[in-house]
Amino acid sequence: MILKIVQAGDPVLRRVAEAVRPEDIAGENIQQLIALMRETMRDAPGVGLAAPQVGVSLALAVIEVLPEYLTRRGLSSAELAEREMEAVPFHVLVNPRLTVVDAAAAVCVEGCLSVRGYAARVPRARAVRVSALDHRGAPVEISARGWHARILQHEIDHLEGKLYIDVMETRSFTTIENQESGKVT
Ligand code: CO
Repeated sequence: MILKIVQAGDPVLRRVAEAVRPEDIAGENIQQLIALMRETMRDAPGVGLAAPQVGVSLALAVIEVLPEYLTRRGLSSAELAEREMEAVPFHVLVNPRLTVVDAAAAVCVEGCLSVRGYAARVPRARAVRVSALDHRGAPVEISARGWHARILQHEIDHLEGKLYIDVMETRSFTTIENQESGKVT
């Protein structure tokens, strides 16, 4: 079942999500939420999805960069390397806490399934570390650079009621159609 992805303007996207009780993670409700979010993210398709985006104000997000997602963008392996884009296996973040490891700003075009049809250049920290609980409730530490670090920052922002449009370079805001037509560089 594909869940409805709420769009900018829905108050749930601006709320600080509630922490998940660790003892609830293995329970049926959270396990089903994770499975449905994975299906919804793959269907979109997207590389990350936070629970508030499906109308659930809980501190939980899923991330996955499939190899197909990278090839579909038509970038060469040199361009992928330059943007530090690589495949990331499916993983779940529950109650994540993010620490910036390298604050140097990397600027790259970003979109959001809750701001459908648009994109903009967004500066993000180059490297981060995230402590969270995984899909079983076990503590995990994730160190990431480049595009994975960008996705982590984007999804964890969702859990704090923030959207990329809050921190984007406003004059780069564009429809995806114009971006893909090459009008925007
Ligand atoms: Co988003």
